[in-house]
Amino acid sequence: MKRVLVTGGAGFIGSCFARTLRAERPDAEIVVLDKLTYAGNLENLRLFDGDPLYRFVKGDIADPEAVKDAMAGCDAVLNFAAETHVDRSLLSAGHFLDTDVKGVFVLLEEARRVGVERFIQISTDEVYGQILEGAFTENDPLNPRNPYSAAKCGGDRLAYSFFASFGLPVIVTRASNNYGPYHYPEKLIPLFVTNAIDDLPLPLYGDGKYVRDWLYVEDHARALLFLLEKGTPGETYNVGGGNEVENIEITRRILSILGKPESLIRKVADRPGHDRRYALSTAKLEALGWKPRFDFETGIESTVRWFVDNEAWWRPIKERDVQFREWYQKNYAERLATSKPA
Ligand code: NAD
Ligand code: TYD
Repeated sequence: MKRVLVTGGAGFIGSCFARTLRAERPDAEIVVLDKLTYAGNLENLRLFDGDPLYRFVKGDIADPEAVKDAMAGCDAVLNFAAETHVDRSLLSAGHFLDTDVKGVFVLLEEARRVGVERFIQISTDEVYGQILEGAFTENDPLNPRNPYSAAKCGGDRLAYSFFASFGLPVIVTRASNNYGPYHYPEKLIPLFVTNAIDDLPLPLYGDGKYVRDWLYVEDHARALLFLLEKGTPGETYNVGGGNEVENIEITRRILSILGKPESLIRKVADRPGHDRRYALSTAKLEALGWKPRFDFETGIESTVRWFVDNEAWWRPIKERDVQFREWYQKNYAERLATSKPA
């Protein structure tokens, strides 16, 4: 691929993909289209300062003019842009529909007009809903249970419909929970690591026995590059790390790496409609030759180390960003006031 559009490239996974693409394919032209919402951060793209094969466009994927400008001359599109936090979707879901459904539609329309050779829609394992035993395969029915996953499900199927109806070479990927450097500190791992560094309480929802399959973000980025070059249009691929861990165990692991006491754990009111467990079969992707490189032990050690070494990245968000502080207050103040020690 000569020129690749990375939408949402100023976020956590999109920026990791852009850095991976630059490292692995030094001749690729990279265009990033990002609205720079609270989750977008140009610090994540510092590597590209002065790079003549890189262009940043500030804009909304739901704005046809911005999309037209960014997609000009591109032969591949990877859509990372999304509203991504389940808890925020429970308090207000409008933006999720605007970006995760309507935005995907605008991108697909332009991709069809331009005639791109590949369109990868980055979807999520959450579109399947929860699974108490076993693991989801790509052909399982979709049963999203919160506004975030329902909106992502809309984008996922809309992307597929452009393959089935118009022959647009779309690939859909469904990844499990990512973690690693540059993770916005509203999600479980970066929130708990940064709170623990500052001896602040760790607000664990419910009984803490919810299970996610954790995928190191660099493994995800490599999987996407792999699928960009080797995936088959019209197909959907699960991308998982093969690391199922309970939230309480992750919390204890973080505290132990940092040498902090378990008394920081606070059991707080649960997330409504909280999916108990996600698990993915990645047999389809592994049969093509991809495998994750990071086990959870190695990945969590290096993630915690990154946050310890990069306070200059997260402190401005947690301490000075009004949007973060308002969110923290809204989602956690009452929960923490009525919390119990673990
Ligand atoms: P993130 O919240 O860190 O970043 C999202 C990025 O999209 C930000 O840079 C933001 O500014 C940008 N953005 C949001 N709305 C936009 C719009 N309307 N137009 C242009 N840009 C917009 O998200 P992430 O964790 O990096 O997730 C990236 C993608 O991967 C999302 O599509 C998400 O659904 C999917 N995904 C994430 C995970 C995970 O664990 N984080 C797992 C599976 C799938
Ligand atoms: P999160 O990082 O928000 O990802 P997702 O909802 O996409 O899985 O949450 C991961 C798990 O951690 C999930 O079971 C909810 C739980 N959680 C807490 O217990 N406390 C928190 O403050 C957060 C943000 C998440």
